Amino acid sequence: LETQVVVIGAGPAGLLLSRFLHDAGIRAVVLERRPMGYVLSRIRAGVLEPGSVDLLHQAGVGARLDREGQRHEGFAISYGEDLLRIDMQSLVGKSVTVYGQTEVTKDLYAAHQQNGCPLHDDVPDVAIEGLDTDRPVVTCTIDGEPTRIHCDLVAGCDGFHGVSRQSIPQAERHEYERVYPFGWLGILSETPPVDHELIYASHERGFALCSMRSNVLSRYYIQCKADDKPEQWSDEAFWDALKAHLPEHVAKTLVTGPSIEKSVAPLRSFVCEPMRYQRLFLAGDAAHIVPPTGAKGLNLAFSDVHYLSTALIEHYRDGSTRALDQYAERALARVWKAERFSWWMTSLLHRFEGDESFNERIRQAEFDYLVSSPRYQASLAENYVGLPF
Ligand code: FAD
Ligand code: DHB
Repeated sequence: LETQVVVIGAGPAGLLLSRFLHDAGIRAVVLERRPMGYVLSRIRAGVLEPGSVDLLHQAGVGARLDREGQRHEGFAISYGEDLLRIDMQSLVGKSVTVYGQTEVTKDLYAAHQQNGCPLHDDVPDVAIEGLDTDRPVVTCTIDGEPTRIHCDLVAGCDGFHGVSRQSIPQAERHEYERVYPFGWLGILSETPPVDHELIYASHERGFALCSMRSNVLSRYYIQCKADDKPEQWSDEAFWDALKAHLPEHVAKTLVTGPSIEKSVAPLRSFVCEPMRYQRLFLAGDAAHIVPPTGAKGLNLAFSDVHYLSTALIEHYRDGSTRALDQYAERALARVWKAERFSWWMTSLLHRFEGDESFNERIRQAEFDYLVSSPRYQASLAENYVGLPF
């Protein structure tokens, strides 16, 4: 086989990138390790920055998002019993959209099936050869057939555990990492959300987040041990813990019910530099991970795709490598700011085992400063709605 770009991974980054390439007349092939049914059923992020919403519109998949996405002009942070509303709309003139990653992926995949580039799922053994030659080859097994795909360029959109990053020689990669000593236990339940806006709760027992997917579907998270298994947590134990992490007046109005999904996510900060090696370009979780506290993971994957797709389109239109050569630097500048913000939100809102009393005083001071300073709130809001591309 022969193509221009091989896109590895059909998560949000790979699907959006291949959509933009296809629309620009660039030939691409998408290879996904898992069956698409599995990819489409994963419950992950829930908050879209306005820049991500714009990109989905540009990709022609904004219709259901406009109908079903919820526009949120503010969210709350609680510290113990105190609650502060961050009014994004009045502080920075922007709002975010609550629309699940599951739905984003479904919409992109549906568009793909209508008129997208070739996509092969359930491909277990993708490998990349000859990255430092003019014509790399991606090898894999498609429908039982050993396949070699010759291409110009490879887009590594295969998430944190993918093959793309691993294909960069160790000596050419610098990896920056912080693993947090806790995880998030999340549940989905067919109950009305406790509030119409998100609540990020910082409590001496630990962090909690009240989010939603619709007026009848709630998504809640609590801080848990990094090695907790979802099976260890009964619904009752989850609801009890959640209530204990929220301000009392909020906990009192919480409607509980059976969970329809329960999972544990680890928390990690990670960046691989550079995001390019020869003819391989990394985008999304393949290159970087943020802890979910700032709702940045999916949005960062999309901003990478914005930089990479415009660079590839320029390359195939003009034959120039200028934008491709700038890709890693442009993407990383935005990535590191989101890393900083996500690390800051995580440090502010979680409790660490063996925390010193000093840290608690600092968290209290951070919260008090936020309450008293609209300028500090504006900085938080500016980062939460997403820095400009
Ligand atoms: P992914 O969504 O990981 O997609 C990569 C794709 O590549 C996958 O479909 C994978 O199967 C495929 N792949 C992997 N290896 C190969 C291979 N060798 N060959 C071919 N294909 C391969 N972010 C938030 O903002 N809020 C959250 O609440 C949140 N929760 C999360 C919970 C979990 C458990 C995880 C893992 C992430 C969560 N995130 C969250 C982060 C967010 O979901 C990611 O940032 C986002 O999915 C990144 O998109 P991506 O396309 O780069 O990577
Ligand atoms: C959701 C997840 C997040 O990590 C976040 O910061 C906000 C919302 C969610 O799943 O709804």
